[in-house]
Amino acid sequence: MQKLFPMLLVILLVTSLHAATFQYPGNLLNFQRKGNQLLLSCDNATVEIYVIDSGIFRIRLLREGQADVGHSYAVVPQNRPAPDFRLVEEDRVLKLSTDEIILIIEKSPLRLAFYDDQEKLICRDHPSFGMGWNGNRVYCWKQIHDEPFYGLGEKTRGLNKRGNVYSMWNSDIPGYSATQDPLYQSHPFFMSLHQGNGFGIFLDNSYRSFFNFGAGNNQFYYFGAEDGVLDYYFINGPQLKTVLKRYGELVGTMPLPPKWALGYQQCRWSYFPDTEVIRLAQTFRDKKIPCDVLYLDIHYMDGYRVFTWHPDRFPDPKAMIQQLEQMGFKVVVIIDPGIKVDPNYHVYQQGVQGDHFCKYPDGTLYQGQVWPGWCHFPDFSKPDSRSWWGSLFKGLVDDGVRGFWTDMNEPATWGGTFPDNVLFDFEGSGADHLRMHNLYGLLMAKSTYQGLKQLRPNQRPFVITRAGFSGVQRYSSVWTGDNVASWEHLKLSMQMCLGLSLSGVAFSGPDIGGFMGAPTPELFTRWIQLGVFMPFFRTHTHHGSPPQDPWSYGDWYEDLNRKFIRLRYELLPYLYHAFYQSSLDNTPILKPMVLEYQSDPNVQWMDDQFMAGKNLLVAPVYLEKQTARKVYFPAGNWYDFWNDEKISGPQTRLISAPLDKIPIFVKAGAILPMQQAVDFIDSKITDPLMLHVFPGNEVVRDSLYEDDGASFDYLNGKYCITPFEFSTQNDQYQFTIDSRIGKLKLPARAMVTIFHDVGQKPKAVSLNGQPLAESVSVETLQQKTEAGYFFCEQSNQLFVKFIDDGKKVSLLIQ
Ligand code: GLC
Repeated sequence: MQKLFPMLLVILLVTSLHAATFQYPGNLLNFQRKGNQLLLSCDNATVEIYVIDSGIFRIRLLREGQADVGHSYAVVPQNRPAPDFRLVEEDRVLKLSTDEIILIIEKSPLRLAFYDDQEKLICRDHPSFGMGWNGNRVYCWKQIHDEPFYGLGEKTRGLNKRGNVYSMWNSDIPGYSATQDPLYQSHPFFMSLHQGNGFGIFLDNSYRSFFNFGAGNNQFYYFGAEDGVLDYYFINGPQLKTVLKRYGELVGTMPLPPKWALGYQQCRWSYFPDTEVIRLAQTFRDKKIPCDVLYLDIHYMDGYRVFTWHPDRFPDPKAMIQQLEQMGFKVVVIIDPGIKVDPNYHVYQQGVQGDHFCKYPDGTLYQGQVWPGWCHFPDFSKPDSRSWWGSLFKGLVDDGVRGFWTDMNEPATWGGTFPDNVLFDFEGSGADHLRMHNLYGLLMAKSTYQGLKQLRPNQRPFVITRAGFSGVQRYSSVWTGDNVASWEHLKLSMQMCLGLSLSGVAFSGPDIGGFMGAPTPELFTRWIQLGVFMPFFRTHTHHGSPPQDPWSYGDWYEDLNRKFIRLRYELLPYLYHAFYQSSLDNTPILKPMVLEYQSDPNVQWMDDQFMAGKNLLVAPVYLEKQTARKVYFPAGNWYDFWNDEKISGPQTRLISAPLDKIPIFVKAGAILPMQQAVDFIDSKITDPLMLHVFPGNEVVRDSLYEDDGASFDYLNGKYCITPFEFSTQNDQYQFTIDSRIGKLKLPARAMVTIFHDVGQKPKAVSLNGQPLAESVSVETLQQKTEAGYFFCEQSNQLFVKFIDDGKKVSLLIQ
């Protein structure tokens, strides 16, 4: 026995170690139905299932004794009636079904499997594992088949995440590599396709989380977090677009930004003093390069104290901003969360007095070092501190600053981030940094956005943030941090923004040209070309780097950069409509091909070409000295944007792409609204509005959304949607504009409809039954005030001009 004892001890230790390793809920003991919930009591845990919608289920695993301190900053209140569901108990399973989903709950051991209403499997727990935990870590293992995986926000390593492992821990990584992970944002949301059926999973847990999509194994994909509750949403499609729409219902969509935020934006670290900023602005106007926004980086502040101006560099900021506004520029300034420890600084004083800063458990204020030296940091999880923070913007707003660039909010400090034991209010419940870290950027953006709304209630705020969490789009746009001036990063920026698009963040973009280092002239121009289609279009570069303005590379490049920035402005009516659509239903502006062509196996991995809005296929050049590239055309007809050449898909074609061209194609059947290039975006009506009509096989119905571009009145119906219809029959074209929708009455304007690929000169063109006069050239047509038409034989395009005064229009082309 004496000899046996140590052996028994070892065996006991080993088994208890094993027991302490991975644990699982065990078998289902009993269940209870409560409203839209089903509570499953198991051997070692309770699993809660909430039926949020017929296609959205929330699953929570609460292990025995686990405290349930629940507050989600990501999910918005769900004010929808709980759907009915049917529950049938069988020997070995419970069957929970809604109109579209059958959830099979295996009892012993507990496993979940989601099927569609045709009993086709969508997603199931791995048979041996399912859900579980190891110490504080929580896991969910799902059986893997041949699914691709998309989403996770701002991630490197391509659009399809299959075979990779990722984690979520907001990190400040200047000059990150093309495989770096994690970066600045946390979006624990992904989508997948199982046998063509799209679905999504959102893990609502702000601790450091992890996602393995079949990396190093062929059994399962899994996700989980270092701590907290395993709390995830299963979101059904079967269209990926439906998954995104539903995800938007959970975590919110982007509200419309001010229209000027769609313009070109110029930034560097830093333009100063004020005379330099005015000179920059004047150069844009002199050179006729459109630009709407100029940025002031940290040098505008007095000793990097946020909410102050440097007295010598910007002695009269209000006057400078007024002058810039008159020239059509908006000013955006950077704001960091670190508040300098300086007893003579008003923000420091107020923060200490109002108890707004993060603390250690012993009550002392946490200090970390950032630009101004030692700093305290606001606790944005405390409602009072959020209001205080919001009120701090009054001075800058009164000075005329239009937007705010929230940076260093991972939070970042020299040497890393906050220690684990820094404490937060967490809406009164209390939480440590491990739980709050990934939420800091989201909450800084929220406090900023809400503060601005308070200060200017009917003006759409503009915020751009580096760090964020799921739902950040409700408050802010996102840029992809400190990238590098390299060809690799040009491509990476497209992939990262496509990932953000598939994660609810519609309004994103990179530092054009690259932040670290200096781009070659060719790289800069190629990046500008890509930027035209990035929702957020801003050039930015590091302190001390060579000038990175559109004219910094000589005349030839300047002309090219001008041409492409002007293209952005020409496409504005189309892009603004795409922003509107996104604000409604989370449809991305920048779309991976798979979103539009889900059933086309050729596009499941495709991340070097994309759709911009619903009708433009864009294939940027991302390799040095490349003057042609392969483009894949999905089924249907496409028109080359530059010369109207018609291409039929599906096929891959080599397309010529010298430096003065980015390959762009228009889907047949598109009605593409465009305008003339302008120096900047003002609140005036688009006049003339150009509608490019590309014939398709069927009747084409489309519309154009317009509003005042600045206020929230659109939420009360003060907008104007103009519906168009185009049909072809027996060589006759019919184009109609129907009654407008919305309370905003637009003044009369000129409308030019440009019919592409017309085939032959029309015999007659009539407007509301009245024949129109033919012009001798486009120029004469454009100069005329009365309606008319011109057919250009060379381009095979028919131009019809008339006055759009809100009445119905019927054009007949014979
Ligand atoms: C950070 C930002 C960068 C900014 C710099 C100085 O590195 O990511 O965009 O220019 O700080 O404020």
